[in-house]
Amino acid sequence: MSQKQEMLKEREGFASRIGFIFAAAGSAIGLGNIWRFPWLVGAYGGAAFLAMYLIIVALVGITMFMGEVALGRYAQRSNVGAFKKVNKSFSWLGSIGLIAGFMILSFYSVVGGWVIYYCFRAVIGFNMTDPTLTEQLFVGFISNPLSPLFFHALFMALTIWICYNGVKDGIEKYSNIMMPALFVIILILAVRSLMLPNAIEGIKFYLVPDISKFSAEAALAALGQVFFSLSLGMGSILTYGSYLSKKENIPNVSLIVPLMDTTIAFIAGIVIFPAVFSYGFEPSSGAGLTFVTLPAVFSEMPLGQLFGAAFFFLLFLAALTSAISLLEPLIAYMIEEHGWSREKAALIIGGIIFIVGCFASLSMGPLSGFKIGGLVFFDQLDWVSNNLLLPIGGMLTALFISWIWGTKNVLNEVTNEGILDFGLGKFWANVMLKFIAPALVFIVFLTGLNIF
Ligand code: PFF
Repeated sequence: MSQKQEMLKEREGFASRIGFIFAAAGSAIGLGNIWRFPWLVGAYGGAAFLAMYLIIVALVGITMFMGEVALGRYAQRSNVGAFKKVNKSFSWLGSIGLIAGFMILSFYSVVGGWVIYYCFRAVIGFNMTDPTLTEQLFVGFISNPLSPLFFHALFMALTIWICYNGVKDGIEKYSNIMMPALFVIILILAVRSLMLPNAIEGIKFYLVPDISKFSAEAALAALGQVFFSLSLGMGSILTYGSYLSKKENIPNVSLIVPLMDTTIAFIAGIVIFPAVFSYGFEPSSGAGLTFVTLPAVFSEMPLGQLFGAAFFFLLFLAALTSAISLLEPLIAYMIEEHGWSREKAALIIGGIIFIVGCFASLSMGPLSGFKIGGLVFFDQLDWVSNNLLLPIGGMLTALFISWIWGTKNVLNEVTNEGILDFGLGKFWANVMLKFIAPALVFIVFLTGLNIF
């Protein structure tokens, strides 16, 4: 197939609204919800973080999500091209997102590799009711110089392979089954976790805010997590929006997907925190929280081996659908703007990301002494992309959509040229997108960096 035909084929886009919802939910729901969210809640003081997270989702997340979908669908282009179509001198804005996506995928695929390893490990059965053992297992695995690299390679190879083939249908088809399955399993785990002794302590930590824990630094982390979890600020949702049919209801899908994503993250917290407190873990123990507490829970529960294996397998699929959406905008950019073939773009860009990811993986073990600004390379990639690039890119995108493209145009797109009745439309465009969301991002961003 020629490149042009392939691009036209892609532009046919999603067959149905459900197709878009599942693909966008596949992008949004991933390691961010189950691994990163509870880790940050634990590190930044529990319920206070949750409260800030929910406020930011409501004020910034949903607003931005709708803006990105609208811009993508209007432009019928992916990241850089969409900005260019509205105003030629703003294509650089799309590049910020591309850099963020590149950095995120470099460490995301390392964690994706951990998940694959845990799938196998869960099939054998963890049999570790003593949580210090699950901790040793996790730390021992990620600091090993070779095995995490092998699984990182496997995860990245799968991501590249799917993007290489451009097979969105396949992944979409089984996301339609896997996403609901993940939801059911995580609900079962939540019930199980709530039945553990001392579960109530975890619930208090998670749901009753401690005022002293509100901090600018935590708000910045919550802001970054909202962008990360909703796949905003780097063109994934914009690119998927460009595949959405002109007949679809943008406000409707822009509410459903963030709600689904937030629900899964919220339930992940209900799974993790009662277990953390029940087993006497430190909630602030960081990136390993999920990988340490859940195996202990699985070891305790009836049919734990089965649930464990199913859980990590579904988490792997959720991670894979997100990883594809991280690589796709980079590939689409190379195809659209530089005339590369899909195959070449997938292999070369994916290959470079794999190499950078190797250093991220090694920074958990042999290279852990090598720190930049007090953080190992893995954490540095995470911090710079999520706390700097996504918020800056996201804020500028909101300003671009509302001030440069203009609220009249964006409203026109969102209401399908005035056909749809979107009661809050004017408020959304003229107040939320134009002022509130960018101002909030700006304030949180500056205070979080200790600039004020
Ligand atoms: N939203 C994904 C998650 O929560 O795991 C990660 C992600 C995907 C971030 C795509 C950014 C993105 F563009």
